[in-house]
Order: sequence, then C-alpha cells, then structure tokens
Amino acid sequence: MAIKGPKGTHDIIFNEINKWHIVESKLTELMQLYDYNEIRTPIFESTELFLRGVGDTTDIVDKEMYTFLDKGNRSITLRPEGTASVARAFIEHSGFNEVLPSKFYYIGPMFRYSRPQTGRYRQFHQFGIEVIGSINPYLDGEILELMMNIFISLGIKNLKLEINSVGCPSCRPLHKEKLKNYLKKNYSDLCPTCQGRYEKNPLRIFDCKNLQCQEIINNGPLITDNLCEECDDHFKKVKYYLEMTNVEYLINKKMVRGLDYYTKTAFEITAGKEGAQSSLGGGGRYDGLIEELGGPNLPGIGFAIGLERVVLTMEEQGLFDKLDNKHDKVYVANVSENNINTTIKLVQELRKNGVVAINDIMSRKLKNQFKYANKINADYVIIIGDDEIVNHIYPLKNMNTGEQIYCSLDELIKILRGV
Ligand code: HAM
Repeated sequence: MAIKGPKGTHDIIFNEINKWHIVESKLTELMQLYDYNEIRTPIFESTELFLRGVGDTTDIVDKEMYTFLDKGNRSITLRPEGTASVARAFIEHSGFNEVLPSKFYYIGPMFRYSRPQTGRYRQFHQFGIEVIGSINPYLDGEILELMMNIFISLGIKNLKLEINSVGCPSCRPLHKEKLKNYLKKNYSDLCPTCQGRYEKNPLRIFDCKNLQCQEIINNGPLITDNLCEECDDHFKKVKYYLEMTNVEYLINKKMVRGLDYYTKTAFEITAGKEGAQSSLGGGGRYDGLIEELGGPNLPGIGFAIGLERVVLTMEEQGLFDKLDNKHDKVYVANVSENNINTTIKLVQELRKNGVVAINDIMSRKLKNQFKYANKINADYVIIIGDDEIVNHIYPLKNMNTGEQIYCSLDELIKILRGV
C-alpha cells in the first residue's frame, strides 16, 4: 500500500504553490516597507523554552506539543509558535546590545498536536513579526495598522479586528482575585478543565466552549474594567493611534488569548466567519517574556498569521485571479528534431533576458506540443521551422487573440517582457 502523509499535515503541490507565492511575496514586500529583518530560528528547541515561554496553563503546552527525547536524552519540542524562539535567539545573541527596538519577521512551519479539521493542522505555517525593546503604545498601534494593512493589501474582505487589554503584573493579580471570588460560588458547576484553570489562570475560563462555563463567566468581572492607571493610559493611546490611522476595531473585553505571556494589548483578526478556526491571526504585548527567559527587562510585542487560513479565505473570497501578476509565458515549439538546436538556444537566450520560456522535453509531435502549450496556459507560442533557423525572424502567436506577428530576437524580448 502507498504511504500517506501523517495525519494533520498537508502537501502544497502543483498549482497550489502559486497561491502561497502570491501571499509570501506580498508579505516580504510589506516587511521591506516597514523595515523589518527576517529571522530564521530552528524548527526544534529545548522543551523548557516553551514550558517557560508559552506557559504551562496553555492548551499548547498542556496537550499540543510534539515532544521527544533525542539520542542524547535531551527533551526536544517541535516549535508550536515563533515568539518564544525569537525571544530566545534575541537573548542568546545579545540583541539588547544592538539598536533597539529589534524588528523581526519570520515565515515557517509550526507544530501543534490538535484534532485536525479545515483550517486546523498539526503542521501549519505562520507568518509572524516580533518587536523587542519598546514600551511605547504607538508601537502597538503601528503593529495593528501593519497587520490590517497585510490583509487589506491581499484584498481580504469582511475583516474584524478585536482588541483588548489583559493588564499587567500589577493589576492582573487583583483582578484574578476578584474573578476567583466571583467564581467561588459556581466552582462545582465549572467543567473539569475550568476547575483546573480556576487556581492557575481563571481568565482562560473566558475561552471555554462549554455553555455552562460561558454562562457563569459571562457576568464575571472583566480585566479591562480593572486596569491599573498605566495599563488604562496605554490602552487609550493604542485606541487613539487606531483612530488616527483610520483602522477600524472593536473592543472585545472577553478576549484573553490562549498564551500566558501576554500583557496589556491583545488582539485577533477574523474575516467574516465565527468559531474556533476563524482567527486569521493574533498577537499582543509580552513585556515580561524576555526577562522570564533569562534576558534583561525588555518589553516585546508581535503577532502571527496562519497562512493556511489566509490562503483558504482568499480562495473563498475568489481573490487569487485578481492578484495573479505572473509574467507572460512563451512556449517555443519545434517542427522537427532538425530544429532542436535553434529551439534550445532561443529558449536559453529568452530566459537570460528575463522571459519565461518553455520548450519540448518530451519529443512530442508539433500537434501535441501545441496541446501542451494550451494545457500550461502559455500566453504565446513561437514555432521554429527551417526558415526561422536561416532568417532569425520568429513567428510569435498570441494564444489569447490568435494574432501572429514576425519579429527579431530583440523585438521578441521587448514584447514578452512587456516593455
Ligand atoms: P496563536 O493565536 O496561537 O498566536 O496563532 C496565531 C495564528 O496561527 C492563529 O490566529 C491561526 O491563524 C494560526 N494557527 C494557530 N494554530 C493553528 C493550527 N493548528 N492550524 C492552522 N493554523 C493555526 C501565536 O502563535 C503567537 N505566537 C502570536 C504572537 C506573536 N503573539 C505575539 N507575537
């Protein structure tokens, strides 16, 4: 029996990859505009990094990590997200001695052992950014504007940006106590997971899908209503930035996000869908993470976007046709084997000059070469016969209009490059 890919993974194969390239090139183009540097960290890290970085009350650490012992008996984990790795690399390479803030972006696979379904995979891809070294709320605003700009530039419609403030170590403990006091009387009605959350991280009860838990928590105190002065002021300035830059947002006081490192601003973006797999991306501030991982007391903020969900949403919204900015393709056909040298040299010359050129590599008859050119959606076909070898004047057929013109190599290059 043929071997299949592991459950929860997927291949990006055939024409599918073109969609990914469209998305990825837009992302790298925007990263240049906002002056971010790419960072590439290992796919696997010490398990301890995620235990300390992501936090042991999160679903990720609790049940979703791909963890194993390597041959040297070290506990290794396939990265479930990028923030902890970027923070680790920043500390390890003394990023605090470089110009601050440090601005990074990454694109790559992440691994979470969860139940696969549409939009949720065990190996998926994230694009993310992290900025380390600035506490300024206008940075939060800029990052939110950037995140929205990414989706808008890709043409995605029905965007909904939800923001919240989840407080800081000076206001959160007080709020936690208030919440626990409120929940105490209903403790026995909470689901077993939320009973576990009650002690360690009661705010996460807002994420529970259980209707009874939702009913209980819905009327509970909200962190946004219990912020300290500093967090309150910070949140006001973030909102001011968004208003100034015309970024539409909603405040969702119940959004806590499923990672332990967040402080102050937290956010999520969806596009016209509700439910568990609707989040296209999310992020927030993590002012304590660098110190938690053994670095200096430096703040950080960032977000990550799920690329499978972006591609899926763009397919659903019919966006790939409009974004297709591919170069024209020319197929160089040869009448017989005798013309093959000219065909090969012409194709080589065209490629050297930046033209996408293809020729026959299957020893097909002319009729079948034409069929092939149609199948690969060639925009133009040039047929090389005996005359063309002698004259160096080539018949260029436009496959969309059927029109044929004769031109020299220089003219060919100009037309095919669209200059
Ligand atoms: P996250 O919310 O866990 O945040 O993931 C960000 C995005 O990754 C999600 O909104 C979703 O689009 C995508 N995603 C997550 N899990 C899966 C999955 N199993 N299959 C497909 N897509 C998925 C983080 O990872 C944080 N590190 C974001 C961040 C960066 N916060 C600060 N800096």
